[in-house]
Amino acid sequence: MANSVVDAIRKAQRATGPATIMAIGVANPPNAVDQSTYADYYFRVTNSEDAVKPEFKEKFNRICNATMIKKRYFFHDEEFLKNNPNLSHFTAASLNTRQDISIVEAPKLGAEAAEKAIKEWGQPKSKITHLIYCSCAGIDMPGADFRLVRLLGLPLSVGRHCVSMQGCFAGGTALRLAKDLAENNKGARVLLVCSELSVIFCRGPDEAHVDNAVGQALFGDGAAAVIVGSDPIADVEKPIFEMLAARQTILPDSGDVIQLHLREEGLTFNLSKENPDIIANHIEECVSDLLAPIGMLPEDLNSMFWVPHPGGRAILDKAEDKLKLEPSKFLTSRHVLAEYGNMVSACVFFVLDEMRRRSVDGGRKTTGEGLEWGMLLTFGPGITVESMLLHSVAI
Ligand code: CAA
Repeated sequence: MANSVVDAIRKAQRATGPATIMAIGVANPPNAVDQSTYADYYFRVTNSEDAVKPEFKEKFNRICNATMIKKRYFFHDEEFLKNNPNLSHFTAASLNTRQDISIVEAPKLGAEAAEKAIKEWGQPKSKITHLIYCSCAGIDMPGADFRLVRLLGLPLSVGRHCVSMQGCFAGGTALRLAKDLAENNKGARVLLVCSELSVIFCRGPDEAHVDNAVGQALFGDGAAAVIVGSDPIADVEKPIFEMLAARQTILPDSGDVIQLHLREEGLTFNLSKENPDIIANHIEECVSDLLAPIGMLPEDLNSMFWVPHPGGRAILDKAEDKLKLEPSKFLTSRHVLAEYGNMVSACVFFVLDEMRRRSVDGGRKTTGEGLEWGMLLTFGPGITVESMLLHSVAI
């Protein structure tokens, strides 16, 4: 008897169907910078023309070209850097300035993306039950999640969760958390916001740190928001993707390959050249460890649509090769990399947004480029990989 009451209570508290992404919104700061002339821009705005040998500037230019990025958006602009020269110096204490900006501006950019997602969802903010905020920019108490409640006018009883300082895999982590919240809380509507500002790690060049140059050539600012919920209200809420399974894993012996440290000079990078190879060498395993136990591993991975985090051109090239995918499979991800750069945790949602848009514009049958099943992958420090099985929705 007692057991049946417990079972009934638990059943009544849980959703019936899988968690779905019901809306996506994205935002960028207005300062757009052209990658083809970025080396000149970067050395000018960081006042570093005389700080390094001309060959190093040429090398930086080569790295910029090799990224295949066309443009990036930044909160910080030339005037801001001129007024805050400590940000351009490689080791000057500058954390206070970086924090002051990030704490205020990252949630503001996140709120802009969230308003777009909420508008697409079409439901009142009072129906949002949970908020997940994800960022590497701005550690504070009360945090950016608290600021977002105020900025957006969310219910004061919203259940808040922060995924802070996790890096590029964190978009997948936050989505996995949103899935679990939505499926385990009947009627839950989760607002997930990722907002990333490179003001936390922008700095001038140092010839001894080529990996810093790689980071300065790669990262951009952006925010993304999604609404996640199970059991959508028919004809009112319109799912875009369903989430069927998710898994996080640490790649063996890779702990020192991507490291970022928060220090007086801001967030520093240590990016090893081995990073793309290590990710690629384990990627098949990450996919099969998620799909095989649920009987969903296809013989040909080309039968799926792919949503990889565009961490860098070499990561996409090598992963695509290992998975034996046709060149078309990572095109949406490559497009996001080209148009925005690597926006850390927010990036993968730009890929999802672009994919559903291209699917509609291209007259495809489903939100996943006409295919039924898809794989979302994010990579970051650890090296940590998040993998998620997506199910597309008919258009
Ligand atoms: N450290 C030091 N030097 C590096 C380097 C690194 N990590 N990566 C490339 N270089 C150097 C190369 O040695 C080369 O130098 P030389 O010209 O003197 O030989 C120069 O950069 C250009 O490299 P390549 O000519 O070999 O060009 P490429 O085809 O490798 O493209 C790249 C360069 C676009 C940077 C490419 O290597 C790439 O995409 N790498 C992946 C970048 C990466 O690690 N991204 C992940 C960022 S971290 C993340 O996403 C998670 C997070 O949480 C922050």
